[in-house]
Amino acid sequence: MAELMTFPSAFLWGAATAAYQIEGAWNEDGKGESIWDRFCHTPGKIRDGNTGDVACEHYHRCHDDIALMRQLGLKAYRFSISWPRVIPGGCGAVNPAGLDFYDRLVDELLAANIQPFVTLYHWDLPQALQDRGGWGSRDACGYFADYAALMVRRLGDRVRHWAAFNEPAVTAFAGHRNGEHAPGLQDEKLTLQVAHHLLVAHGLAVQAMRGIDPQLNAGIVLDLWPAEVMTDSEEERAFAEMIWQTSAGWFLGPLFRAGYPPTAWQRYGDKAPDVHPGDMALASQRLDFLGVNSYSRHVVKNGEIIRPVPGSEYTEMDWEICAPAFRRLLVRLKHEYPVPPIYITENGAAFRDEVSPDGSVHDPRRIAYLRDHFTQARLAMNDGVDLRGYFVWSLLDNFEWSNGYSKRFGLIFVDYATRQRTVKDSGQWYAQVIARNGIDLFTTE
Ligand code: FCB
Repeated sequence: MAELMTFPSAFLWGAATAAYQIEGAWNEDGKGESIWDRFCHTPGKIRDGNTGDVACEHYHRCHDDIALMRQLGLKAYRFSISWPRVIPGGCGAVNPAGLDFYDRLVDELLAANIQPFVTLYHWDLPQALQDRGGWGSRDACGYFADYAALMVRRLGDRVRHWAAFNEPAVTAFAGHRNGEHAPGLQDEKLTLQVAHHLLVAHGLAVQAMRGIDPQLNAGIVLDLWPAEVMTDSEEERAFAEMIWQTSAGWFLGPLFRAGYPPTAWQRYGDKAPDVHPGDMALASQRLDFLGVNSYSRHVVKNGEIIRPVPGSEYTEMDWEICAPAFRRLLVRLKHEYPVPPIYITENGAAFRDEVSPDGSVHDPRRIAYLRDHFTQARLAMNDGVDLRGYFVWSLLDNFEWSNGYSKRFGLIFVDYATRQRTVKDSGQWYAQVIARNGIDLFTTE
Protein backbone atom coordinates (compact mmCIF):
# COMPACT_ATOMS: atom_id res chain seq x y z
CA MET A 1 0.00 0.00 0.00
CA ALA A 2 1.32 3.41 -0.86
CA GLU A 3 0.50 6.42 1.19
CA LEU A 4 -0.03 9.55 -0.88
CA MET A 5 1.34 12.90 0.29
CA THR A 6 -0.95 15.31 -1.48
CA PHE A 7 -0.62 18.95 -2.48
CA PRO A 8 -3.25 21.70 -2.57
CA SER A 9 -5.49 21.44 -5.62
CA ALA A 10 -4.25 24.73 -7.12
CA PHE A 11 -0.58 23.72 -6.77
CA LEU A 12 1.21 24.45 -10.03
CA TRP A 13 3.44 21.64 -11.21
CA GLY A 14 5.75 22.75 -13.97
CA ALA A 15 9.12 22.56 -15.62
CA ALA A 16 11.60 25.27 -16.51
CA THR A 17 14.03 26.15 -19.28
CA ALA A 18 15.96 29.20 -20.46
CA ALA A 19 16.20 30.67 -23.95
CA TYR A 20 19.92 30.35 -24.57
CA GLN A 21 20.02 26.84 -23.18
CA ILE A 22 17.42 25.39 -25.53
CA GLU A 23 16.45 27.63 -28.44
CA GLY A 24 19.41 27.50 -30.81
CA ALA A 25 18.74 29.58 -33.97
CA TRP A 26 21.29 31.99 -32.58
CA ASN A 27 21.41 34.16 -35.69
CA GLU A 28 18.13 33.37 -37.41
CA ASP A 29 15.17 35.55 -38.30
CA GLY A 30 16.82 38.80 -37.27
CA LYS A 31 18.05 37.81 -33.82
CA GLY A 32 20.93 39.92 -32.50
CA GLU A 33 24.09 38.59 -30.89
CA SER A 34 24.02 38.00 -27.14
CA ILE A 35 26.93 37.95 -24.70
CA TRP A 36 26.52 34.18 -24.53
CA ASP A 37 26.88 33.89 -28.31
CA ARG A 38 30.07 35.92 -28.11
CA PHE A 39 31.37 34.04 -25.08
CA CYS A 40 30.76 30.59 -26.57
CA HIS A 41 32.37 31.62 -29.83
CA THR A 42 35.51 32.62 -27.93
CA PRO A 43 37.88 29.61 -27.86
CA GLY A 44 38.57 28.09 -24.46
CA LYS A 45 35.55 29.41 -22.62
CA ILE A 46 33.19 26.42 -22.79
CA ARG A 47 33.85 22.76 -22.19
CA ASP A 48 34.58 20.88 -25.42
CA GLY A 49 34.09 24.10 -27.38
CA ASN A 50 30.32 23.65 -27.19
CA THR A 51 27.97 26.52 -28.05
CA GLY A 52 24.25 27.22 -27.87
CA ASP A 53 24.14 27.86 -31.64
CA VAL A 54 21.79 24.92 -32.18
CA ALA A 55 21.15 23.66 -28.63
CA CYS A 56 17.86 21.69 -28.52
CA GLU A 57 16.55 23.46 -31.63
CA HIS A 58 13.58 24.47 -29.55
CA TYR A 59 13.08 27.55 -31.73
CA HIS A 60 12.10 25.18 -34.54
CA ARG A 61 10.61 22.39 -32.47
CA CYS A 62 8.57 24.32 -29.98
CA HIS A 63 5.31 22.85 -31.23
CA ASP A 64 6.55 19.29 -30.55
CA ASP A 65 8.01 20.33 -27.21
CA ILE A 66 4.64 21.62 -26.10
CA ALA A 67 3.14 18.28 -27.09
CA LEU A 68 5.67 16.66 -24.74
CA MET A 69 4.75 19.06 -21.95
CA ARG A 70 1.17 18.06 -22.48
CA GLN A 71 2.15 14.41 -22.29
CA LEU A 72 3.74 15.10 -18.90
CA GLY A 73 0.59 16.91 -17.83
CA LEU A 74 2.45 20.10 -16.91
CA LYS A 75 0.24 22.81 -15.50
CA ALA A 76 2.84 25.53 -15.97
CA TYR A 77 5.97 26.17 -18.00
CA ARG A 78 8.70 28.62 -17.07
CA PHE A 79 10.77 29.90 -19.97
CA SER A 80 12.84 32.96 -20.68
CA ILE A 81 12.75 35.46 -23.48
CA SER A 82 15.90 36.17 -25.39
CA TRP A 83 16.27 39.95 -25.25
CA PRO A 84 18.42 40.11 -28.42
CA ARG A 85 15.84 38.02 -30.28
CA VAL A 86 13.21 40.70 -29.74
CA ILE A 87 15.44 43.81 -29.61
CA PRO A 88 18.61 42.85 -31.48
CA GLY A 89 20.61 45.88 -30.35
CA GLY A 90 19.23 45.89 -26.81
CA CYS A 91 17.48 49.20 -27.39
CA GLY A 92 15.82 50.75 -30.39
CA ALA A 93 14.55 48.65 -33.27
CA VAL A 94 12.32 45.70 -32.48
CA ASN A 95 12.49 42.39 -34.36
CA PRO A 96 8.93 41.39 -35.29
CA ALA A 97 9.89 37.77 -36.03
CA GLY A 98 11.29 37.43 -32.53
CA LEU A 99 8.14 38.78 -30.95
CA ASP A 100 6.05 36.47 -33.13
CA PHE A 101 7.96 33.44 -31.88
CA TYR A 102 7.09 34.15 -28.22
CA ASP A 103 3.57 35.08 -29.20
CA ARG A 104 3.04 31.68 -30.81
CA LEU A 105 4.71 29.92 -27.90
CA VAL A 106 2.35 31.56 -25.42
CA ASP A 107 -0.72 30.85 -27.56
CA GLU A 108 0.20 27.21 -27.94
CA LEU A 109 0.88 26.83 -24.23
CA LEU A 110 -2.49 28.28 -23.37
CA ALA A 111 -4.17 26.06 -25.94
CA ALA A 112 -2.55 23.12 -24.13
CA ASN A 113 -3.82 24.47 -20.81
CA ILE A 114 -0.31 25.24 -19.58
CA GLN A 115 0.30 28.52 -17.77
CA PRO A 116 3.26 30.50 -19.07
CA PHE A 117 5.71 31.93 -16.49
CA VAL A 118 8.05 34.34 -18.19
CA THR A 119 11.57 35.30 -17.15
CA LEU A 120 12.84 38.36 -18.98
CA TYR A 121 16.53 37.94 -18.28
CA HIS A 122 18.16 34.56 -18.06
CA TRP A 123 21.66 35.86 -18.72
CA ASP A 124 21.66 36.61 -22.47
CA LEU A 125 22.33 40.35 -22.61
CA PRO A 126 22.46 41.81 -26.12
CA GLN A 127 26.16 42.07 -27.03
CA ALA A 128 25.53 45.59 -28.34
CA LEU A 129 24.79 46.68 -24.78
CA GLN A 130 27.84 44.87 -23.43
CA ASP A 131 29.88 46.89 -25.90
CA ARG A 132 28.55 49.98 -24.14
CA GLY A 133 29.50 48.81 -20.64
CA GLY A 134 26.90 46.08 -20.07
CA TRP A 135 25.45 45.89 -16.57
CA GLY A 136 28.35 47.96 -15.33
CA SER A 137 26.61 50.92 -16.92
CA ARG A 138 23.48 52.35 -15.32
CA ASP A 139 22.03 52.96 -18.79
CA ALA A 140 21.36 49.23 -19.12
CA CYS A 141 18.73 49.53 -16.35
CA GLY A 142 16.56 51.87 -18.39
CA TYR A 143 16.93 49.80 -21.55
CA PHE A 144 15.89 46.74 -19.60
CA ALA A 145 12.76 48.47 -18.30
CA ASP A 146 11.87 49.45 -21.89
CA TYR A 147 12.29 45.84 -22.98
CA ALA A 148 10.12 44.65 -20.06
CA ALA A 149 7.43 47.10 -21.07
CA LEU A 150 7.57 45.95 -24.69
CA MET A 151 7.04 42.35 -23.66
CA VAL A 152 4.16 43.12 -21.30
CA ARG A 153 2.47 45.15 -24.02
CA ARG A 154 2.81 42.23 -26.38
CA LEU A 155 2.10 39.24 -24.11
CA GLY A 156 0.55 40.75 -20.99
CA ASP A 157 -2.98 39.92 -22.06
CA ARG A 158 -2.03 36.23 -21.79
CA VAL A 159 0.96 35.97 -19.46
CA ARG A 160 0.15 36.66 -15.80
CA HIS A 161 3.50 35.87 -14.12
CA TRP A 162 6.61 37.86 -14.90
CA ALA A 163 10.04 37.56 -13.31
CA ALA A 164 12.43 40.24 -14.43
CA PHE A 165 15.65 38.45 -13.47
CA ASN A 166 16.88 34.91 -13.05
CA GLU A 167 19.62 34.59 -10.43
CA PRO A 168 21.11 38.08 -10.46
CA ALA A 169 23.87 36.78 -8.18
CA VAL A 170 25.11 34.44 -10.89
CA THR A 171 25.10 37.19 -13.50
CA ALA A 172 27.13 39.36 -11.18
CA PHE A 173 29.51 36.86 -9.59
CA ALA A 174 30.04 34.22 -12.30
CA GLY A 175 30.00 36.81 -15.08
CA HIS A 176 32.10 39.55 -13.51
CA ARG A 177 34.12 38.12 -10.64
CA ASN A 178 35.28 34.64 -11.58
CA GLY A 179 34.69 35.02 -15.30
CA GLU A 180 33.20 31.56 -15.80
CA HIS A 181 30.11 33.01 -17.42
CA ALA A 182 29.61 35.66 -20.07
CA PRO A 183 30.85 38.34 -20.33
CA GLY A 184 33.82 36.62 -18.65
CA LEU A 185 35.16 39.54 -16.61
CA GLN A 186 37.12 39.37 -13.35
CA ASP A 187 36.71 42.55 -11.38
CA GLU A 188 35.25 42.50 -7.88
CA LYS A 189 34.38 46.18 -7.68
CA LEU A 190 32.55 45.94 -10.99
CA THR A 191 30.80 42.76 -9.79
CA LEU A 192 29.08 44.52 -6.93
CA GLN A 193 28.20 47.50 -9.09
CA VAL A 194 26.64 45.11 -11.60
CA ALA A 195 24.71 43.39 -8.79
CA HIS A 196 23.41 46.77 -7.72
CA HIS A 197 22.40 47.75 -11.23
CA LEU A 198 20.52 44.48 -11.58
CA LEU A 199 18.50 45.39 -8.49
CA VAL A 200 17.83 48.86 -9.88
CA ALA A 201 16.88 47.37 -13.25
CA HIS A 202 14.57 44.93 -11.49
CA GLY A 203 12.87 47.84 -9.71
CA LEU A 204 12.48 49.90 -12.87
CA ALA A 205 11.14 46.91 -14.78
CA VAL A 206 8.58 46.09 -12.10
CA GLN A 207 7.40 49.70 -12.19
CA ALA A 208 7.26 49.74 -15.99
CA MET A 209 5.36 46.46 -16.15
CA ARG A 210 2.85 47.52 -13.50
CA GLY A 211 2.46 50.84 -15.30
CA ILE A 212 1.02 48.90 -18.19
CA ASP A 213 -0.87 46.29 -16.22
CA PRO A 214 -1.29 46.89 -12.49
CA GLN A 215 -2.82 43.44 -12.10
CA LEU A 216 0.09 41.35 -13.34
CA ASN A 217 2.15 39.25 -10.95
CA ALA A 218 5.68 40.56 -10.73
CA GLY A 219 8.53 38.67 -9.10
CA ILE A 220 12.19 37.79 -9.14
CA VAL A 221 14.06 34.49 -9.17
CA LEU A 222 16.97 34.01 -6.77
CA ASP A 223 19.50 31.20 -6.41
CA LEU A 224 19.62 30.40 -2.73
CA TRP A 225 22.32 28.16 -1.33
CA PRO A 226 21.99 27.75 2.41
CA ALA A 227 25.28 27.72 4.30
CA GLU A 228 25.14 25.13 7.08
CA VAL A 229 27.65 24.10 9.73
CA MET A 230 29.20 20.70 10.45
CA THR A 231 29.86 21.47 14.10
CA ASP A 232 27.65 23.87 15.94
CA SER A 233 30.11 26.38 17.35
CA GLU A 234 29.54 30.12 17.47
CA GLU A 235 32.53 30.70 15.22
CA GLU A 236 31.31 28.27 12.59
CA ARG A 237 27.84 29.73 12.65
CA ALA A 238 29.24 33.24 12.20
CA PHE A 239 31.29 32.07 9.23
CA ALA A 240 28.29 30.35 7.62
CA GLU A 241 26.26 33.47 8.23
CA MET A 242 28.86 35.62 6.48
CA ILE A 243 28.68 33.36 3.43
CA TRP A 244 24.89 33.68 3.38
CA GLN A 245 24.87 37.45 3.85
CA THR A 246 27.49 38.13 1.17
CA SER A 247 25.61 36.00 -1.38
CA ALA A 248 21.87 35.32 -0.87
CA GLY A 249 21.49 38.05 1.77
CA TRP A 250 23.10 40.56 -0.58
CA PHE A 251 19.96 40.32 -2.73
CA LEU A 252 17.31 39.39 -0.16
CA GLY A 253 18.29 42.43 1.94
CA PRO A 254 17.68 45.08 -0.72
CA LEU A 255 14.60 43.28 -2.08
CA PHE A 256 12.81 42.60 1.19
CA ARG A 257 14.44 44.81 3.81
CA ALA A 258 15.29 47.86 1.71
CA GLY A 259 18.99 47.68 2.48
CA TYR A 260 22.18 45.68 2.07
CA PRO A 261 23.05 43.49 5.07
CA PRO A 262 25.36 45.67 7.22
CA THR A 263 27.88 42.93 8.03
CA ALA A 264 28.28 42.04 4.36
CA TRP A 265 28.53 45.71 3.38
CA GLN A 266 31.38 46.10 5.85
CA ARG A 267 33.03 42.95 4.65
CA TYR A 268 33.02 44.18 1.04
CA GLY A 269 34.64 47.43 2.17
CA ASP A 270 35.70 49.64 -0.74
CA LYS A 271 34.24 47.13 -3.20
CA ALA A 272 30.70 48.10 -2.13
CA PRO A 273 28.68 49.72 -4.92
CA ASP A 274 27.69 53.34 -5.54
CA VAL A 275 24.07 53.66 -4.50
CA HIS A 276 21.96 56.58 -5.67
CA PRO A 277 19.25 58.08 -3.49
CA GLY A 278 16.01 56.23 -4.16
CA ASP A 279 17.69 53.01 -5.33
CA MET A 280 16.68 51.02 -2.26
CA ALA A 281 13.05 52.10 -2.56
CA LEU A 282 13.14 50.98 -6.19
CA ALA A 283 14.69 47.61 -5.35
CA SER A 284 12.35 46.89 -2.45
CA GLN A 285 8.94 47.53 -3.91
CA ARG A 286 6.22 45.02 -3.23
CA LEU A 287 6.46 41.77 -5.17
CA ASP A 288 3.73 39.27 -5.94
CA PHE A 289 5.99 36.26 -5.77
CA LEU A 290 9.50 35.10 -5.04
CA GLY A 291 11.01 32.44 -7.27
CA VAL A 292 13.43 30.17 -5.44
CA ASN A 293 16.03 28.16 -7.33
CA SER A 294 17.53 25.57 -5.05
CA TYR A 295 19.80 22.64 -5.77
CA SER A 296 22.12 22.10 -2.85
CA ARG A 297 23.84 23.76 0.11
CA HIS A 298 27.26 24.79 1.34
CA VAL A 299 28.68 23.05 4.37
CA VAL A 300 31.16 24.87 6.52
CA LYS A 301 33.88 23.39 8.73
CA ASN A 302 36.92 25.04 10.31
CA GLY A 303 36.27 28.31 8.54
CA GLU A 304 35.92 26.93 5.04
CA ILE A 305 33.40 25.36 2.72
CA ILE A 306 34.11 21.64 2.65
CA ARG A 307 33.56 19.24 -0.21
CA PRO A 308 32.85 16.36 -0.18
CA VAL A 309 30.76 16.21 2.95
CA PRO A 310 31.51 12.79 4.47
CA GLY A 311 28.71 10.34 3.78
CA SER A 312 26.88 12.60 1.31
CA GLU A 313 25.92 11.78 -2.25
CA TYR A 314 26.71 14.15 -5.10
CA THR A 315 25.18 14.86 -8.49
CA GLU A 316 27.15 15.18 -11.72
CA MET A 317 27.52 18.91 -10.99
CA ASP A 318 29.37 17.91 -7.84
CA TRP A 319 26.53 19.40 -5.83
CA GLU A 320 25.71 17.69 -2.56
CA ILE A 321 22.26 16.10 -2.32
CA CYS A 322 20.61 17.24 0.90
CA ALA A 323 16.84 17.56 0.68
CA PRO A 324 16.27 18.47 4.35
CA ALA A 325 18.36 21.63 3.81
CA PHE A 326 15.75 22.65 1.23
CA ARG A 327 13.00 22.66 3.85
CA ARG A 328 15.22 24.56 6.29
CA LEU A 329 15.93 27.14 3.58
CA LEU A 330 12.23 27.73 2.90
CA VAL A 331 11.43 28.01 6.59
CA ARG A 332 14.30 30.44 7.11
CA LEU A 333 13.02 32.65 4.31
CA LYS A 334 9.60 32.75 5.90
CA HIS A 335 10.99 33.65 9.32
CA GLU A 336 13.58 36.20 8.34
CA TYR A 337 12.21 38.10 5.37
CA PRO A 338 8.73 39.39 4.59
CA VAL A 339 8.56 37.27 1.46
CA PRO A 340 5.51 37.04 -0.82
CA PRO A 341 4.16 33.65 -1.97
CA ILE A 342 6.95 31.41 -3.20
CA TYR A 343 7.34 29.30 -6.32
CA ILE A 344 10.20 26.85 -6.61
CA THR A 345 11.32 28.10 -10.00
CA GLU A 346 14.15 25.56 -10.33
CA ASN A 347 15.06 22.32 -8.64
CA GLY A 348 16.51 19.21 -10.19
CA ALA A 349 19.67 17.21 -10.67
CA ALA A 350 22.21 16.24 -13.31
CA PHE A 351 23.07 12.58 -13.63
CA ARG A 352 24.85 10.54 -16.27
CA ASP A 353 21.88 9.43 -18.36
CA GLU A 354 21.83 7.28 -21.44
CA VAL A 355 19.30 5.59 -23.65
CA SER A 356 19.16 1.89 -22.76
CA PRO A 357 18.91 -0.88 -25.34
CA ASP A 358 15.21 -1.04 -24.46
CA GLY A 359 14.87 2.54 -25.74
CA SER A 360 14.17 4.02 -22.30
CA VAL A 361 16.23 6.28 -20.07
CA HIS A 362 16.34 4.81 -16.59
CA ASP A 363 17.19 7.54 -14.10
CA PRO A 364 16.23 6.27 -10.64
CA ARG A 365 18.55 8.72 -8.88
CA ARG A 366 16.72 11.69 -10.39
CA ILE A 367 13.40 10.21 -9.27
CA ALA A 368 14.78 9.81 -5.75
CA TYR A 369 16.15 13.34 -5.77
CA LEU A 370 12.86 14.83 -6.89
CA ARG A 371 10.76 12.71 -4.57
CA ASP A 372 12.88 13.77 -1.58
CA HIS A 373 12.76 17.44 -2.53
CA PHE A 374 9.00 17.39 -3.21
CA THR A 375 8.56 15.79 0.21
CA GLN A 376 10.64 18.44 1.96
CA ALA A 377 8.79 21.19 0.11
CA ARG A 378 5.49 19.73 1.29
CA LEU A 379 6.80 19.57 4.85
CA ALA A 380 7.85 23.22 4.58
CA MET A 381 4.27 24.00 3.58
CA ASN A 382 3.13 22.27 6.77
CA ASP A 383 5.57 24.58 8.56
CA GLY A 384 3.63 27.51 7.14
CA VAL A 385 5.62 28.33 4.00
CA ASP A 386 3.29 29.73 1.34
CA LEU A 387 4.46 27.63 -1.59
CA ARG A 388 2.31 27.83 -4.72
CA GLY A 389 4.11 25.80 -7.34
CA TYR A 390 7.19 23.88 -8.39
CA PHE A 391 9.17 23.97 -11.62
CA VAL A 392 11.56 21.10 -12.20
CA TRP A 393 14.83 22.05 -13.85
CA SER A 394 14.67 21.11 -16.57
CA LEU A 395 12.11 20.11 -19.15
CA LEU A 396 14.87 19.04 -21.55
CA ASP A 397 18.53 18.17 -21.32
CA ASN A 398 20.20 21.35 -22.49
CA PHE A 399 23.25 23.57 -22.77
CA GLU A 400 24.57 23.83 -19.23
CA TRP A 401 26.56 27.07 -19.61
CA SER A 402 30.31 26.61 -19.15
CA ASN A 403 29.76 22.85 -18.86
CA GLY A 404 28.42 22.70 -22.40
CA TYR A 405 26.30 19.62 -23.07
CA SER A 406 28.04 17.46 -20.48
CA LYS A 407 25.42 17.79 -17.73
CA ARG A 408 21.95 16.40 -18.25
CA PHE A 409 19.19 17.84 -16.06
CA GLY A 410 16.17 17.02 -18.22
CA LEU A 411 12.99 15.11 -17.55
CA ILE A 412 13.36 14.51 -21.26
CA PHE A 413 16.56 13.17 -22.80
CA VAL A 414 17.92 14.95 -25.87
CA ASP A 415 20.15 13.14 -28.35
CA TYR A 416 22.36 16.02 -29.43
CA ALA A 417 23.24 14.41 -32.77
CA THR A 418 19.65 14.09 -33.92
CA ARG A 419 17.83 16.33 -31.39
CA GLN A 420 15.52 13.42 -30.78
CA ARG A 421 13.64 13.57 -27.48
CA THR A 422 12.97 10.61 -25.14
CA VAL A 423 10.93 11.04 -22.00
CA LYS A 424 13.05 9.65 -19.13
CA ASP A 425 11.66 7.43 -16.39
CA SER A 426 11.70 10.54 -14.18
CA GLY A 427 9.47 12.28 -16.72
CA GLN A 428 6.98 9.40 -16.60
CA TRP A 429 7.16 9.41 -12.83
CA TYR A 430 6.61 13.18 -12.70
CA ALA A 431 3.55 12.80 -14.95
CA GLN A 432 2.08 10.48 -12.31
CA VAL A 433 2.88 12.90 -9.50
CA ILE A 434 1.06 15.63 -11.40
CA ALA A 435 -1.89 13.41 -12.30
CA ARG A 436 -2.37 12.37 -8.68
CA ASN A 437 -1.26 15.72 -7.28
CA GLY A 438 0.89 13.89 -4.78
CA ILE A 439 3.81 11.59 -4.11
CA ASP A 440 3.96 8.07 -2.77
CA LEU A 441 5.61 8.24 0.60
CA PHE A 442 6.35 4.58 1.09
CA THR A 443 5.07 1.20 0.02
CA THR A 444 4.32 -1.78 2.18
CA GLU A 445 3.64 -5.00 0.41
C1 FCB B 1 20.78 27.54 -12.47
C2 FCB B 1 20.41 28.23 -13.76
C3 FCB B 1 19.90 27.31 -14.82
C4 FCB B 1 20.62 25.99 -14.84
C5 FCB B 1 20.70 25.39 -13.46
C6 FCB B 1 21.37 24.05 -13.41
O1 FCB B 1 21.74 28.28 -11.79
O2 FCB B 1 19.46 29.22 -13.53
O3 FCB B 1 19.96 27.99 -16.04
O4 FCB B 1 21.84 26.13 -15.44
O5 FCB B 1 21.35 26.28 -12.60
